[in-house]
Amino acid sequence: MDSRTNLYGLIGHPIQHSLSPEFQNKLIELFNINAAYLAFNVEKDQFENIKNTIKTLNIKGLNVTVPYKETIIPYLDKIDESANRIGAVNTIEYIDGQLIGYNTDAFGFIRMLKELNVNIDNHKAVVLGAGGAAKAIIYALEKLGIDDIMLCNRTIEKADRLLEKFNFKNKKISSLQDFQIEDDMLIINTTSLGLDENESPVVISKSVKNTILIDIIYNPFETKLIKDAKINGIYAVNGLPMLIYQGIESFKIWHKQIENPFIYYDNLYDNLLRKLVD
Ligand code: ATR
Repeated sequence: MDSRTNLYGLIGHPIQHSLSPEFQNKLIELFNINAAYLAFNVEKDQFENIKNTIKTLNIKGLNVTVPYKETIIPYLDKIDESANRIGAVNTIEYIDGQLIGYNTDAFGFIRMLKELNVNIDNHKAVVLGAGGAAKAIIYALEKLGIDDIMLCNRTIEKADRLLEKFNFKNKKISSLQDFQIEDDMLIINTTSLGLDENESPVVISKSVKNTILIDIIYNPFETKLIKDAKINGIYAVNGLPMLIYQGIESFKIWHKQIENPFIYYDNLYDNLLRKLVD
């Protein structure tokens, strides 16, 4: 690092468990860029200063995480179409004196599905949870051209409000308790139930055909939901690939000169996997 090192980072609260600094700095190193990526734990009562702070310190790019993905929007000069539809920003670029907001979460989810090579044709999507994380997933499912969606949430009104903004041929809302697993489902857990290894948003206790389960939680590496699915022979994966793909896409926004940062995906995955399962 020297006097020309460009600063990038993550803002959130809390952020000490984030894996982003680890893999963003790895990418910086692999491409030999004069930059550094730090995690900034921003207290809620300091957040109103965020715009001036970024501009004053000439921070070139930031990732935004819980609880600021929505509250950051009024501080930005522009946001792109996906961030606007999702209603949340996870990436900021500071360029030509302007703060531009993007959302790479939906991209991360779509890329993960593509790379997993799973067939989602004719699948009914089931999203568990209707919080911030669910919005990006639902936007991605809309983009993928899914016809049928069921949104299961503890608070029904929240699910109703969220789904209103999106276009699907068939929309259903349900409580988590009423969920029944069936053939040909694409189930995505976006609730926080699973962060505790004994908790799960829904019960999976039977075998079904062609159903795919994705839990966006990656720590614990295998949630109870994933374990229950696997016991019943259901294909189930966690959200680590989504995390890495959204992060590489942010990196691509900041470092446009790098043509294909995705070549290092396996390298980043292996590093984080070792960290998470050790
Ligand atoms: P995020 O931005 O990470 O999605 P969030 O906006 O707080 O976080 O959303 C968390 C999701 O987990 C919500 O769907 C929440 O359900 P409610 O909308 O009913 O609040 C769900 N969730 C969290 N704790 C839960 C619990 N104990 N039981 C059922 N659902 C829970």
